[in-house]
Amino acid sequence: MLDLLLKGARIAGEADTREICVRDGRIAEPEPEARQVIDLGGALVTPALVEPHIHLDAVLTVGEPRHNLSGSLFEGIAIWAERVKQLSVDDVKRRVRTVLRWQLANGVQFVRSHVDVCDPELRAARALLELRQEIGDQMTLQLVAFPQQGIMSFDGGEDLMRRAVDMGVDVVGAIPHFELTREYGERSVKFAMALAADKGLRVDIHCDETDDDHSRFVEVMAAETIRLGMGGRVTASHTTAMHSYNAAYAYRLINNLKRAQMHMVTNPLDNSVLQGRFDGYPIRRGHTRVKELLAAGVNVCIGHDSVMDPWYPLGYGDPLQAAFVLAHYGQMSGHNELRTLIDMITFNPASALGLQDYGLLPGNRADLCAFAAPTEMDAIRLVAPRKLVLRAGKVVARTEPAHTTVVWDGREEAVDYLKPGWA
Ligand code: FE2
Repeated sequence: MLDLLLKGARIAGEADTREICVRDGRIAEPEPEARQVIDLGGALVTPALVEPHIHLDAVLTVGEPRHNLSGSLFEGIAIWAERVKQLSVDDVKRRVRTVLRWQLANGVQFVRSHVDVCDPELRAARALLELRQEIGDQMTLQLVAFPQQGIMSFDGGEDLMRRAVDMGVDVVGAIPHFELTREYGERSVKFAMALAADKGLRVDIHCDETDDDHSRFVEVMAAETIRLGMGGRVTASHTTAMHSYNAAYAYRLINNLKRAQMHMVTNPLDNSVLQGRFDGYPIRRGHTRVKELLAAGVNVCIGHDSVMDPWYPLGYGDPLQAAFVLAHYGQMSGHNELRTLIDMITFNPASALGLQDYGLLPGNRADLCAFAAPTEMDAIRLVAPRKLVLRAGKVVARTEPAHTTVVWDGREEAVDYLKPGWA
């Protein structure tokens, strides 16, 4: 007998609804009887959402000690330098506990978080490693050693990276465009990738997050990935300088990224507000070349990056909101592009994180979410709530969709935002 039968589920990419069967916490083959039946009424169902890029150690610090009045990256860095002095293990844990709950409510069950290791006491890393123990299997957390101030340009940077790896982080980061010189940047990429290769870890580097078209460290990442045979285990995040590269260089680079089997993460929320700040009109979008990368067959994922911190005061940890912004900012409003946006918060980041057993095929763990919307287009249009979230076959989050009415011709009537007949 099944433990749970979900009726009326519309799987992303499929036209008709169908049933999803769950037994022993896993997706099962169909059986006639079930202990519990839930009718989803045609709701879109996807595997659990995957957050491939967030900075959990900075979440919910907006306004501390002051608000970022210009909204710029550099004012954000100055404010963070003040806030970081008050950082403690308890302070980080308290904020992260809140945001993990927000993410789970949004259907996110797999999270890769960067954690700043430019701290001789490694407070943020200790907090997140302890918290990962505390939460057990309620969510899956991957941690990246992220040197916010650089590896070569920060006193003891290489040693701090090695210590973070020894403490148990899963992924090695870097920030080459922020290093003091181009040569330091190149060395930092090679250092991080050698450390990861040596320890059997993955790599996720903040790379070329600038509007400077001379920032070209992602080519070094591709070359090292090929040289070290790390294809499939290396991610470049942000890469906003790619927006400003000339077409001939971008063409060659994208081919090399494909050859290296690298994953790319674009962060539309933060980068739509932070980039182009030195431009007069016209202002560049400062966004990586999402459509060209996808067309070349490179795996591109959407990250959230910040939740209410000195760089980005908004957000509530919902990847769908980031996908909504990319639909506009990346001009991905074509019908199939809207569907691709859903892949970019599910299957694509699952691949970048190296998740096993992911997806709705029988035998995989039943980690999924149902949207209060029937199609990918409606889910994005409405940034639809997750009406049901399942982890290992158990309901772990629910949202009751809002009930809205209007008074029309003197009578109160219900309003829903679906095209009539589509529910
Ligand atoms: Fe980031």
